[in-house]
Amino acid sequence: PAPLRLGIAGLGTVGVGVIKIVRKHAKLIEERTGRPVAITAVAARNRAKDRGVDLGKYDWEDDPVTLATRDDVDVYVELMGGSDGPAKASVEAAIAAGKHVVTANKALLAHHGQAIAEAAEAADVVLRFEAAVAGGIPVIKALTEGLAGNEITRVMGVMNGTCNYILTRMYDAELPYDVVFDEADKLGFLEADPQLDVGGIDAGHKLSLLSSIAFGTQVNFDGVELEGIERIKIEDIEQAADMGYRIKLLGVAQMTGRGLEQRMSPCLVPAASPLGQLEGGTNMVVIEGDSVGQIVMRGAGAGEGPTASAVMGDVMDIARGITISTFGKRATDLVPAKPAKATVP
Ligand code: NDP
Ligand code: HSE
Repeated sequence: PAPLRLGIAGLGTVGVGVIKIVRKHAKLIEERTGRPVAITAVAARNRAKDRGVDLGKYDWEDDPVTLATRDDVDVYVELMGGSDGPAKASVEAAIAAGKHVVTANKALLAHHGQAIAEAAEAADVVLRFEAAVAGGIPVIKALTEGLAGNEITRVMGVMNGTCNYILTRMYDAELPYDVVFDEADKLGFLEADPQLDVGGIDAGHKLSLLSSIAFGTQVNFDGVELEGIERIKIEDIEQAADMGYRIKLLGVAQMTGRGLEQRMSPCLVPAASPLGQLEGGTNMVVIEGDSVGQIVMRGAGAGEGPTASAVMGDVMDIARGITISTFGKRATDLVPAKPAKATVP
């Protein structure tokens, strides 16, 4: 069978991880999908940079749009990031050129997901984004496939590993926010714009994407009530601990009679609960469905291997010919969300 040919834009943490899996598991991927998956071409900004993998076999493109529209690319894998700019332009160009798209870019989809999903549908191509939410945890697949027969009543969780690291470390080491923030910075955990992490924005992006799938609504990031962790003091953490609680940046989304509630904010969770016990750096997503009850998924929400694992799951679905709608149902059938002020605990 003909190989599925990838064009990968972005050779940072995630892009390099994807290349490593394609190489390491070439046989397994072919056995599982029934066809080889091959990388045709790659793009990044700096051609001279040593990325720890041999790129010699792949064509190099400086321009992601050129990469995305090459005749010998079947799937455009966007791993650059950013809600606009080259990520948006290249994804749109890929779709217009009839390419399937896999992306890890939550910012792009939180802001433009509806338009991009509609474009993909009109072009009859697949657009998937498993890696964008909770990294290695296959939460999108859980919602769109395994739990498709449920009415989802609530989705919640810890979806930003950096904030969870900071809050957990403040508790464990009894250190103030500023000190732990600097530690996180030195460890390379923070986004280029740290406000995306500590302001709750990155986690809010993820929650808005999950809400769309869970409740059949158009992505509505503006409807997420956001509060970050910058104002959390060590005293708050200690007082919470005295009462048997931990503070976590918790996202909760649920549909009520008044509309869609979406909130991402620091919350008290019982210390002994799975959320309270969640180690720094990890994510946890809790899904409640009318038939299944409660599902809890925990794992690495970031990093080379976990995030690339999720990207490959999407790529391999495309290799298998699986064509699930981006948000679990036709994009044109998603209804505008009616935001309601969150009342959930
Ligand atoms: P990095 O910053 O490590 O890498 C970004 C890559 O994109 C770099 O190789 C960079 O090139 C390239 N790039 C940026 N701008 C351009 C441009 N204009 N033209 C061509 N190439 C460009 O990012 P990550 O790998 O960490 O993240 C990639 C995506 O995955 C983002 O959307 C991110 O939000 C998402 N994600 C990341 C996770 C993680 O754990 N890192 C987890 C989940 C999602 P160069 O190297 O030459 O500078
Ligand atoms: N900055 C994000 C986090 C990366 O800390 O969870 C993964 O999306």
